[in-house]
Amino acid sequence: MKKVRVFAPASIANLGCGFDIMGLALDEVGDILEMSASEGDGIHIENRSGVPLPEDPEENVVTPVIRKFFEMTGLRGRIDVTVCQKIYPGSGIGSSAASSAAAAFGMNALFDEPLSDEDLVVCAMEGENLASGGYHADNAAPSLLGGIILIRGYEPLDIIQLPIPGNFYCAVVHPRIMVSTKAARGILPKAVPMHDAIGQWGNVGGLIAGLYSGNIGLVGRSMQDFVAEPYRKRFIPDFDGLRTKILASGSLAMNISGSGPSVFSLSDKRETAHRAGELMKEHFAARDIPCDVYVVKITNKGTRLLANEIL
Ligand code: HSE
Repeated sequence: MKKVRVFAPASIANLGCGFDIMGLALDEVGDILEMSASEGDGIHIENRSGVPLPEDPEENVVTPVIRKFFEMTGLRGRIDVTVCQKIYPGSGIGSSAASSAAAAFGMNALFDEPLSDEDLVVCAMEGENLASGGYHADNAAPSLLGGIILIRGYEPLDIIQLPIPGNFYCAVVHPRIMVSTKAARGILPKAVPMHDAIGQWGNVGGLIAGLYSGNIGLVGRSMQDFVAEPYRKRFIPDFDGLRTKILASGSLAMNISGSGPSVFSLSDKRETAHRAGELMKEHFAARDIPCDVYVVKITNKGTRLLANEIL
């Protein structure tokens, strides 16, 4: 029997203007799965993370990921999964994507790596579809591959790893309010007015140009979302007031992380990121909302094995 222990990082999807097409990995926090493959059939999941997860394996994101792996490779076997560490579902920092990425990566490791990185993203997107009712890779791809990712297209999948400017810090706050991705997608309008679309693609271009040239100011002023944030900010108490405080304290930008309720800021100095983290914490504490804060230097680390044993 082969057994692996896999870590997959949390992630921030959308990165302001890149709804469903951009994301970055947050290496400080993530999911850990132990997976083993043996003779037979079936997917067996045990949750030892302490975070409540659905009891029914059909409702756990790892199940469709494992099935997609078997479908794409023609392989089979009995898979046992132990969830050892888990980001809170509904946090907005890619909880479902981290488990999906870990499951896809773990399967590939168990079966001697038949799939490419892009194939693993395809597998992981099955978990995202179960969790959110849509095939998007802007959490799963950065979680798997690390760093800052652009998904230029979905049909076929075209994934581009973008450069990380030298000093690039992120403060993320996860207020303990539950916002399901399904609900946060459901409130979005089906069409985007031309005026907003023009603003959005100007910003996406600006963000990419800023990352390639290391022009942090350009990155900051491109982090403006006309497509999702105006509708979703109602889930976050006084979002605009918080953003005003964060920008005044020297951060380059503040936006909703994925579908929320987590919020993140970007800065080019560690101290500014720490200050943003404190302001975010105070903001939610003043409203009696407990929260977790992470201050992270953006790196290229993605999903990886923590241990690998063959019994
Ligand atoms: N791009 C997705 C959304 C990410 O904003 O709905 C979900 O975390």
